[in-house]
Amino acid sequence: MICFADQGAGITQEQQPRIFDRFRRGNREQNRKGTGMGWAIAREIIRAHGQQIWVSSKPGRGSEVCFRLPVACQDGQP
Ligand SMILES: Nc1ncnc2c1ncn2[C@@H]1O[C@H](COP(=O)(O)OP(=O)(O)O)[C@@H](O)[C@H]1O
Ligand SMILES: [Mg+2]
Repeated sequence: MICFADQGAGITQEQQPRIFDRFRRGNREQNRKGTGMGWAIAREIIRAHGQQIWVSSKPGRGSEVCFRLPVACQDGQP
């Protein structure tokens, strides 16, 4: 399991599941470069491994995104 955490602006509870949607961008990001595809691509990659990715956040305090990946054995078999 891998987690990324920041001490940024945070994400409201309502918006948290939506950051993984394609082309989803926050109002704060209107004047910043971006496509809203970052977390959408990440979720597709994690799903292709049969796993999940999720976010937890406290608005005004920061956010944490975590995901799991399977560990392969030495012979490459799961
Ligand atoms: N660490 C974060 N802290 C606060 N908001 C975030 C964070 N990561 C993503 N978001 C919100 O989710 C939206 C989608 O993120 P992302 O897929 O990386 O696209 P982009 O960075 O191009 O806007 C962002 O526009 C922002 O509103
Ligand atoms: Mg981004």
